[in-house]
Amino acid sequence: MCGIVAYIGSKEACPIIIKGLQRLEYRGYDSAGIALQQGKELNIYKTKGKVSNLQDFLEGKNIEGTSGMGHTRWATHGVPNDVNAHPHYSESKDLALIHNGIIENYAILKEEMVKRGHTFVSDTDTEVLIHLIEDIQLNEKIGLEEALLQALSEVTGAYAIVLMCKNNPDIMYAARKGSPLVIGVGENEYFMASDATPIVEYTKNVVYLNDEEIAIVTRNNGFTIKNIQNQLKTPYIQELELKLEMLEKGGYDHFMLKEIHEQPRSIKDSMRGRLNAMEGYIRLGGIKEYDQKLINANRIIIVACGTSWHAGLVAEYLFEDLARIPVEVEYASEFRYRNPVIHETDVVIAISQSGETADTLAAIQLAKQKGATIIGICNVVGSSIPRSSHAGSYTHAGPEIGVASTKAFTAQVTVLSLMAIYIAHKRGTISDSRYHQLITELDCIPDKVKQVIDNTNEQIKNIAQSLKDAPNFLYLGRGYNFPVALEGALKLKEISYIHAEGYPAAEMKHGPIALIDEKMPVVVVATNQSAYEKIISNIQEVAARKGRVIAIVNKADNTIKELAEHVIEIPETEEPFSPLLSVIPLQLLSYYIAVYLGKNVDQPRNLAKSVTVE
Ligand code: AGP
Repeated sequence: MCGIVAYIGSKEACPIIIKGLQRLEYRGYDSAGIALQQGKELNIYKTKGKVSNLQDFLEGKNIEGTSGMGHTRWATHGVPNDVNAHPHYSESKDLALIHNGIIENYAILKEEMVKRGHTFVSDTDTEVLIHLIEDIQLNEKIGLEEALLQALSEVTGAYAIVLMCKNNPDIMYAARKGSPLVIGVGENEYFMASDATPIVEYTKNVVYLNDEEIAIVTRNNGFTIKNIQNQLKTPYIQELELKLEMLEKGGYDHFMLKEIHEQPRSIKDSMRGRLNAMEGYIRLGGIKEYDQKLINANRIIIVACGTSWHAGLVAEYLFEDLARIPVEVEYASEFRYRNPVIHETDVVIAISQSGETADTLAAIQLAKQKGATIIGICNVVGSSIPRSSHAGSYTHAGPEIGVASTKAFTAQVTVLSLMAIYIAHKRGTISDSRYHQLITELDCIPDKVKQVIDNTNEQIKNIAQSLKDAPNFLYLGRGYNFPVALEGALKLKEISYIHAEGYPAAEMKHGPIALIDEKMPVVVVATNQSAYEKIISNIQEVAARKGRVIAIVNKADNTIKELAEHVIEIPETEEPFSPLLSVIPLQLLSYYIAVYLGKNVDQPRNLAKSVTVE
């Protein structure tokens, strides 16, 4: 949460920073601000609202300067307003800071500094940190770098920061603990950002800062990296695989729509080099050294949040059904605080698109301390979760920019399907012929996803038009499609702000059925061959109470046609892969409803793409 971008070099900093902030706006969009070194001045311009509001605010102002830093905020401490927007000044206004994360002991530090005469203008923890750095510098009569190191060792919590000093315009400082920060290394110019997206068009060379490291970045003398114990570190410069066109809408109205349409490709990419149906093999290079741990695991614990947690629920069905390994799927936020029982024979799978989700990261750190093997399934290369895992597989879905996750979910389920089939085959819990059947079908999934999109898009647009004014929705599914029902409801809530609930279809009669009347749309995922009759009974129960049934089926029979207001047909597949197809109509439905309601699809209110606070 919160996006950071900074530049030092010989070009004009402001346009680079503004463009970078637009790329990072998925991380938060409550307010935006920029600090520019302008001659002997360190000036801050900031305002409530999106980066476009900041652009309007800068209109007609002097924005010259070859070093500066910008921030887009997702509010934690203090309401979104101009004053709480970053950057923040120190007491003397000689220093300025941008920050992503939470300084947990800010209240005590603030109280102490207020007693010493500091005046704070905002409600933020960030302002406390910049005051602290200056306070240490002045009281102890030490240099800024030393004061920064000392301040960082006094604070608890998480941070990614960039610090500028009015009196030293040729140096910028960056540091991280728990929140991501990457340095772009150009030709006599440097970039600092929360991820590589603001950097990629200027340089492919990047250094990911590790926790408790600081970077001292100079205009003319390169950069150095130290840990907060002041020991020099050798920077590891990596080459980015990211391409600029991956960050653009490519003719679609929204990133979310583009990402829904990308799924045939992104699913294929997540299988590329791993699945060869012709030759009959699955290879998962990233877990090779740890596959015995998985094969012999007594239990798999999956930790994740949100949509990634739903992918984890699908994985529970996959691993139990195919590999016969007991699985527990945990909300990372609950798992980390309930003193869980973890054994060395447990394998913990962390699923995360961003690879930065604070709760998921903390959950794996806890499990690691207790001796479990950690496998990361993440999308963002070089992010914190893969770096904290023993092994893992990237999902290779490409950058997902819409806040509502779509292609990341299907890529996660694809990788988890590969893993479950691979482990099941090694454990002998599926026969050779079943193994070949499954991988042959998995190989066909990208084409089938394309068929779903091509064949249902127009129909779903019409359905969305007819349902858009409903205040509540129910989503029902069974077995492999129960997590899909949860995911469908989450998608609708997130971007249309319509209240929606997902339930196992049979659970409906234990309470939610009371909600059903002629105004209630009930989306039923009825593609499971094994429980088809039972789902039909559930649909009967809804129809009997005059609920508006929208059924996702493989082939509409007469019974379904009579019971449902809308029937959406999708191709048949092996049941373990049905989530990969059945989720697509639900993504499209929520997308078109949100569009008809005039909502900001890519940046829904109150949300952020990367949740780096707990
Ligand atoms: C999904 O649409 C959400 N925006 C959200 O639930 C997300 O899946 C969750 O925050 C987890 O993020 P991660 O996959 O990056 O860890």
